[in-house]
Amino acid sequence: MTTELPARTRLGAQLSRRKPLPVAAATAEENTGLRRSMGLWQLTMISIGATLGTGVFVVLGTAVPMAGPAVWIAFIIAGFTALLSALSYAEMAGSVPVSGSSYSYAYATLGEGLAWVCGWCLVLEYAVSVAAVAVGSGEYINDALGLFGIHLPAAIAGAPGDGGIVNLPAAAIVLLAMVLLIRGTRESIAINTIMVVLKIAVMLMFVAIAFTAFHAQNFEPLAPMGAAGISAAASRVFFSYIGFDAASTAGEEAKNPQRDMPRAILLSLGIVTVVYILVAVAAIGARPWDTFSDNGPTLAAILNDITQTPWIALVMAIGAVIAIASVVLTVLYGQTRILMSMARDGMVPSIFARISPRTHTPVAGTVIVSVAVAITAALIPLGELADATSIGTLFAFALVNLSVIYLRWKRPALPRTFRVPLFPVVPLLGFGFCVYLMITLGTTTWIVFLLWMLVGAAVYLGYSRRRSVVGALSEAEYAEAQAASDESNR
Ligand code: ALA
Repeated sequence: MTTELPARTRLGAQLSRRKPLPVAAATAEENTGLRRSMGLWQLTMISIGATLGTGVFVVLGTAVPMAGPAVWIAFIIAGFTALLSALSYAEMAGSVPVSGSSYSYAYATLGEGLAWVCGWCLVLEYAVSVAAVAVGSGEYINDALGLFGIHLPAAIAGAPGDGGIVNLPAAAIVLLAMVLLIRGTRESIAINTIMVVLKIAVMLMFVAIAFTAFHAQNFEPLAPMGAAGISAAASRVFFSYIGFDAASTAGEEAKNPQRDMPRAILLSLGIVTVVYILVAVAAIGARPWDTFSDNGPTLAAILNDITQTPWIALVMAIGAVIAIASVVLTVLYGQTRILMSMARDGMVPSIFARISPRTHTPVAGTVIVSVAVAITAALIPLGELADATSIGTLFAFALVNLSVIYLRWKRPALPRTFRVPLFPVVPLLGFGFCVYLMITLGTTTWIVFLLWMLVGAAVYLGYSRRRSVVGALSEAEYAEAQAASDESNR
């Protein structure tokens, strides 16, 4: 849709325009070409699939030098921040059950300007993070092959700046996920479910073996770097919680989105939090914290040391590749569905909303996103961008907490399948914790984030603003749609 913007919609007025809830619901009800095939189990698997990956396999090791043995406390703080926002996500997913996740929630509540900001942050959370995650998979594929004495030539095993020319394993894993996603959602989700079960099994295997070498004295002193170290580590490991909201991108492919999406979000977060804390405690118990470094022992190496059995390290390395592959698959899935919602609103080109009648998937959007992500993963050493991903995600989460407050205030009677407990304390705390972790992130991360937002502002002003469907409504049409929205929810 490329409706021209009427000259009378001034920028300020347009930025504050909210997408009327009946319009959002009607779009979701229309025959979009997607198939409703997912229940609670599949939705939970999407969220766990998108969450458990590089964070615990790679980022954990880099957070230990920051917090010392107290790294597990950092996981609890980051998990608590995620939980507060997850409760808000659950309420929004149960009241605005469309596909666009927090972008759609912000559009229905806070207005087009903040919705755009949110959607733009979600590109950091999804597309950029998936590229960073794929780079991690490249390292583990190399590790796994290395155990058989096979070493990929450096030129094709890393990005320029990481000692190579192109990171082929990372690009390959993204393109494989693309092929699956194009073939069909049901097939992709079935394969994801198998991968999730395997990755949790591998994590539990790690915990069980690492506990056999547990030394309580490894936890003394608990916090050699003090509270500041724990805070810094908490914002670092927040990366490992990114993705629990992925179920909220599946609103139009869920059989009963209002009932199942909130449950899936909370269930998946609960499961990964328990796994992370167990892994962190087991890893420190098995290996003194001061032997960890940015390039220090991976979980596989810890097991290798304990068991002196190379095949166990191989299982870990394969587990890591599977874990990361399922993150890539589900996060790519989420990104295509968010862009689909944005395209319907005119925020990004309409090609992202085109659904193939044969496969019932957004084929063109999936190809464009995947190829862009594959190229990024192949050519850019994205380790540094993990923090930038976190700041974007935290910003989007902060907005979801505000959306809950706004919607409760403006639409008290809106049917809600889940309600945040202790309102408004929980969403206010959720907002506060997100801001706190954002502040703890370093200056470079903030600069990257601000640059990203500036590019976003240019794209909005140069493109989206002129094609916005809601922005194109005349003042009278908009007032009428909003009045209908207010009326229907009083
Ligand atoms: N949470 C995701 C991961 O850790 C991004 O891989």
